[in-house]
Amino acid sequence: MNTPIYSRLLEHKTLDYSPFHTPGHKNNFFKENLFELDLTELPDTDALYEADGIILETEKNLAKLFSAKRSLISSGGCTLAIQTMLKLACQRGKKMLFARNIHRSAVNACALLGITPKWILPKSDNFLFTGRVLPEDVEKEFIKDTEISALYITSPDYYGEITDIKALSEICRKYGKLLLVDNAHGSHLAFLKENQHPVHLGADMSACSLHKTLPVLTGGAVLNIANAEFAENAKNAMSLFGSTSPSYPIMASIDICCKYMSEKGISAYRKLEERVLQIKQLAENLGIIQPDGLCDNTRICISTPNIENQIDFFHSHKIESEFCDGRNAVFICTPFNSERDLKRLENAISQIHGHPETVPFTFTLPETALTPREAILAESELVSVKNAVGRISADSACPCPPGIPVVMPGEVIDSNIIHLLDESDLIHVVK
Ligand SMILES: Cc1ncc(COP(=O)(O)O)c(C=O)c1O
Repeated sequence: MNTPIYSRLLEHKTLDYSPFHTPGHKNNFFKENLFELDLTELPDTDALYEADGIILETEKNLAKLFSAKRSLISSGGCTLAIQTMLKLACQRGKKMLFARNIHRSAVNACALLGITPKWILPKSDNFLFTGRVLPEDVEKEFIKDTEISALYITSPDYYGEITDIKALSEICRKYGKLLLVDNAHGSHLAFLKENQHPVHLGADMSACSLHKTLPVLTGGAVLNIANAEFAENAKNAMSLFGSTSPSYPIMASIDICCKYMSEKGISAYRKLEERVLQIKQLAENLGIIQPDGLCDNTRICISTPNIENQIDFFHSHKIESEFCDGRNAVFICTPFNSERDLKRLENAISQIHGHPETVPFTFTLPETALTPREAILAESELVSVKNAVGRISADSACPCPPGIPVVMPGEVIDSNIIHLLDESDLIHVVK
């Protein structure tokens, strides 16, 4: 029998691309052989959901690093941390306000938990990137609907844009609402020159994909809880969704990452910040459009209007990006990228020019016919977007840019949104 996955991974390694994608360790950090530590819950290795030994100790280290009241390890990615965060937030009510640029893990969690989402759209001058929800818009929603129990946002977004969490947390506090932050792309923000980590800025809970931007094996994540009200039930909530076989190599990698961040990590990330800012400056000098306002200093996002096939272009420069959406390219940098990687990126960027057109994103929220739970659990069929007008979506569909879903499960697909999608794409609709 052949070994399709294993063989392709070996083959990919020989291509020698500079990795500007996750995981943050870039296969260039661990000296330890984590492979041989693939064990299970044993009398001396603690248990994830009943942690009172080594796992609890590591969780305490995480809480110290992130200044949280309680931190919970996940080896099931940020998805598990998000599910747990939403389950806990349900204690305060099941109607929540969500910034519409939401990852599908949260949409699915809403369906599983029976949460009724209300949506708020990010604002942007041109929608070349996602934009951000504005505090004054959030406040209006809180005044309009007093049943809303929480605000859920994604920050930073995929393009590296950071929302004003401090301002949002003040509004949430004023109206007695929870602030929940999907910080999947921002674990490292706690260690940069200006601490932009959501928990530091007033979020009640924040889910972080450690593996995306810190040196942790893929799947390693943490739920950071700042509001002590949620600490007691947290493990129980996580056990509702998580595997009963947590990965010890992943959990051990979190341990090793914590030690690194408490010793050399902070200075390495701050050095990286400066180097990446040089590259961003180079792009700016060349007239390349990048997201403006407060952004992640370690992530590069550029518009590439003169490049037809972005992936081929970057491959020709021996670069693998995190994401190319046809208009923009995203590069995740960590201290485990070499100077050779960064030079390759500079070289590629120096060949990009031209101004992107504004993305025509005029969008009003579609009508809601079912809850996400009703729509996702209903019998569905796959039809082309072109033939889906008038049908109730059982899925979300998200054009990038701007990375804002134009239809969510339970919403009616109307003629105003199909021009924002590829009409030949397939979409699940309720039968
Ligand atoms: C914004 C956002 N949230 C959550 C997730 C889920 O994270 P994970 O893959 O660690 O489960 C992702 C994954 O890409 C994401 O981009």
